[in-house]
Amino acid sequence: MKARLFVCTTCDRYALPPPSPTRGETMLASVQHAAELLGVPGMVSAVPCVNSCPRPAGAAVREGRGGGVFRFALLTPEDAPALVEFALRRASGEAVDVPESLAGRVASYTLPRVG
Ligand code: FES
Repeated sequence: MKARLFVCTTCDRYALPPPSPTRGETMLASVQHAAELLGVPGMVSAVPCVNSCPRPAGAAVREGRGGGVFRFALLTPEDAPALVEFALRRASGEAVDVPESLAGRVASYTLPRVG
């Protein structure tokens, strides 16, 4: 199973004026750095939104094609290593729980496709 980690670069879409870089862009840089350190830079993608907008900054972990999706909100750059490690462990098939440091920021979980 190949996990993917999607980081919203638009957050915070409600910030006035929008900072540059955005919170999401700062989060993306931290996540990319953490993924590079773990030798998996290809697992990270920038996206315009993961539907966590009212609670920026958002990211989503997809557990492979057709797999479940964890959506996170209110992330900070300090969360990047735990987020990448969680995605890797889920991709390896480990039935690991969301790390305690991220548990309060799971916005939703979408079940895997059946069949
Ligand atoms: S704008 Fe970042 S989750 Fe929607």
